Amino acid sequence: MQDDNKIAIASDHGGLELKEDLKAYLAELGFSAVDMGVHNADSVDYPDYGSPLAGKVSKGEINRGILICGTGIGMSILANKYRNVRAALVSDVYTARMSKEHNNANILVIGGRVVGKGLAREMLKTWLETKFEGGRHQKRLDKITEVENKTMKKD
Ligand code: RB5
Repeated sequence: MQDDNKIAIASDHGGLELKEDLKAYLAELGFSAVDMGVHNADSVDYPDYGSPLAGKVSKGEINRGILICGTGIGMSILANKYRNVRAALVSDVYTARMSKEHNNANILVIGGRVVGKGLAREMLKTWLETKFEGGRHQKRLDKITEVENKTMKKD
């Protein structure tokens, strides 16, 4: 069981500014942010930063993570290639809440060029505070795991 207080966060250059803001916000909320880059605004390839974070969540080395690129699209496509990862690209507070309540998303993905800092903070807080409902939603997640078992190699 991992420390639930630790939240990994990573971005490419398109998400750097929002990453820095959300990192500060995590500290304000009392969480310990594990910053997995980037650390400057040089142009990079988002898979190089999304993969280490998604891999950690996939292996259960950390429970939750946040990924940010320009639109959030690349990071969400990438992260969902990893077994056990449920990455949700959100752009409003309702989907941020539902991503946890119904989908038990373990990675929150945000587009740094799409969403302002105020909304991003609200979405993050909502996702962190919301509980997974389980029940019929667990049954649906189990069906996704069945697909993973059919389509993904085991390490
Ligand atoms: C980088 O320019 C941009 O393509 C990237 O941040 C992201 O939006 C990809 O999905």
